[in-house]
Amino acid sequence: MKLWAGRFQKETDTLVNDFNSSIQFDARLYKQDIAGSIAHAQMLGKQGIIEGHEVEEIVAGLKAILEDIEADKVEFSVDNEDIHMNIETLLTQRIGDAGKRLHTARSRNDQVAVDTRLYVKQEIPVIIGQILELENVLVERAKEHLDTVMPGYTHLQRAQPTTFAHYMMAYANMFKRDVTRLEDCLERLDECPLGAGALATTTYPVDRFQTAKALGFAKPTDNSMDSVSDRDYAIELLSDLSLLMMHLSRFSEEIILWCSWEFKFVDLDDAYSTGSSIMPQKKNPDVAELVRGKTGRVYGSLITLLTMMKGLPLAYNKDMQEDKEALFDAIDTVEECLPVFAAMVNTLSVRRHNMERAAAGGFINATDCADYLVKKGMPFREAYMIVGRLVNLCIKNHETLDTLTLRDFRAISELFDEGVYEAMSLKNCVNGRKVYGGPARESVQKQISLIEEFVAARKK
Ligand code: ARG
Repeated sequence: MKLWAGRFQKETDTLVNDFNSSIQFDARLYKQDIAGSIAHAQMLGKQGIIEGHEVEEIVAGLKAILEDIEADKVEFSVDNEDIHMNIETLLTQRIGDAGKRLHTARSRNDQVAVDTRLYVKQEIPVIIGQILELENVLVERAKEHLDTVMPGYTHLQRAQPTTFAHYMMAYANMFKRDVTRLEDCLERLDECPLGAGALATTTYPVDRFQTAKALGFAKPTDNSMDSVSDRDYAIELLSDLSLLMMHLSRFSEEIILWCSWEFKFVDLDDAYSTGSSIMPQKKNPDVAELVRGKTGRVYGSLITLLTMMKGLPLAYNKDMQEDKEALFDAIDTVEECLPVFAAMVNTLSVRRHNMERAAAGGFINATDCADYLVKKGMPFREAYMIVGRLVNLCIKNHETLDTLTLRDFRAISELFDEGVYEAMSLKNCVNGRKVYGGPARESVQKQISLIEEFVAARKK
């Protein structure tokens, strides 16, 4: 029999029963639901809304249910629709009348809102911890490769020389922003909707500050209608996770390119790559490809929630039950991707010579050649034109700037002398860029220590 059977003259159609129920996916909120109910019952007791012995029976009953769920001894039923009604029904079956008092001054609308917030509050720190582990890996890899010169690209064309360390720190900065965004989300969602009731609170003298505190929230939410119709925190989290996945996906794309024979900048560890069922020579970057591919699911979850919410009048609407699968799937996906991605980066080997060889071709030092003339007094635009002509000459003769003779140089400008070769050497091209944020050893060391401080401040 349904909780609401009094109002109805027919049983729910079995099709509707299945269609309506969310227990298949919201069962994972059992811990949050029980914590919320315990806080609510204790507050009801303290406010004299229910009796002290009833509070004791409810709390003991809920704790026993929690134990049984964790020991896999509880079977939930679609007849009880969702986790909230499953637990309440179970409680009443077990403890009788006291169980029937638990839902006083509460609605499933504030209940589901508090459960979901508690769940998100639990998972955000897990994700932050995983990102910080990835930051540690990037710092370690950067320290090993402060002097590993590689081409930097724009338009995927060789542009200017950089180092593998500088490259790793570029990603470290993206992930740092991901962490601060998640922290920001966590701070904003730290308000407790419990006590909002269905939408307009209750006439019972509930103490929302007490339940907020008991559940570890900074404060109760300020408006009860907003409390039960707000899913901003979930959308914010999904936006943050989408950005995070976008970063992981770009990084994956680079790794996929780098392990192709065309680049061969890195080799993935055998334990982090896979073979082909037909082509014996293959070693595939499946992990990176899957991370890139799974990015789509997380974006999909974000769009699901944005679209689900856009036409909803206040306050709760059943549409909102659809938030959970998308939210959980995105959280699960990110939590699955981060550790395997970090381990893949941690174990890949860098082919330093291939990187250096690529940096030596492609006229990556052309800007430095022009800057050399500028340092001799020529305006940059003029120097730029002259070096363009030199590059053109090299391409015709299958040469690079470094293989041109001094005579070739001087035929174009008298300002060239022996010093040009030193000025264009890749090492000097990189180490001359000591500007804050640049690729020179000392600049990258600064970047590394900033990330180390960022991580250390959060590991306390
Ligand atoms: N299972 C529902 C959900 O996830 C709980 C809230 C139900 N509220 C209601 N008024 N039907 O959204």
